Amino acid sequence: MKALILNSSARINGNSAMALGYLKEILGHENVSAEYVNLAEMNIGMCKGCRLCFDKGETACPHKDDVLGIYKRMIDQDLIILGGPVYVEDVNGILKNWIDRMAFNCHRPGLYKQKAYIFMNSGSGASGHALRTVERAFQTWGMRVIGKRKIVLGAKSKKEEFMPKYSNLLRKDMKKVLGRLRRTRSPSFIQVMTYHIQKWFYNNKTAKESYDYQYWLGKGWLDRRRKYYSDSKIGTLKNIGTKVIGTFIIKVVLR
Ligand SMILES: Cc1cc2nc3c(=O)[nH]c(=O)nc-3n(C[C@H](O)[C@H](O)[C@H](O)COP(=O)(O)O)c2cc1C
Repeated sequence: MKALILNSSARINGNSAMALGYLKEILGHENVSAEYVNLAEMNIGMCKGCRLCFDKGETACPHKDDVLGIYKRMIDQDLIILGGPVYVEDVNGILKNWIDRMAFNCHRPGLYKQKAYIFMNSGSGASGHALRTVERAFQTWGMRVIGKRKIVLGAKSKKEEFMPKYSNLLRKDMKKVLGRLRRTRSPSFIQVMTYHIQKWFYNNKTAKESYDYQYWLGKGWLDRRRKYYSDSKIGTLKNIGTKVIGTFIIKVVLR
């Protein structure tokens, strides 16, 4: 089993690094090989909003930097752990820019095989919004979120403060996450519903000559009988339920 730990903090040795480093240690004890990457140390240019990744594919992005390399490493993993600090009640700028640069996955989900654990760390506890920002992005990219955690630490915490407060909790989290990783074979309700919603948009609202439409067509994702991005077994109840709720979201919520 393989995991990639992504830290978004500008403080290379800050609180997030301490907590994520501890998660890496726990995974090591569970025989999970975990790679650690700090996004702040990567070369990630600001999204220019040119839409070339949408219109011509992600390799057409004018930035020739580390984004696609990180993406390739993600595709190769069973588990993605993403962590970072809360800034002004949301994700920090480094993380938001990385999410924006990965937005081609909102059109052409490439991470539907990956499961995720999201970890947010704040000074006073207001991190629900940041968790939701990441969760929403991951779900749109096709991922399944199997765990999330918010923790609160003082501005420059030391291991002596962190360990008694959070070591047990994070160990339990990793046990649960690894259990879910081993157990869950079929895609979740949200994953299948996301597929149906996106498929509806491509079938009904997208120009046939567009890059995205042709991509979906080429993958066979627009076939009427297709139930999901991959050939995973989808039960009848889940298939019908996700279509019904998906249609409600399309017709009522997203109108
Ligand atoms: C610019 C900035 C904005 C912040 N905004 C918030 C906030 O809205 N809510 C909060 O609880 N903590 C906030 N914090 C505190 C950090 O989330 C907290 O110190 C965190 O532990 C830092 O993690 P790091 O060392 O990994 O960067 C902010 C810190 C900075 C530098």
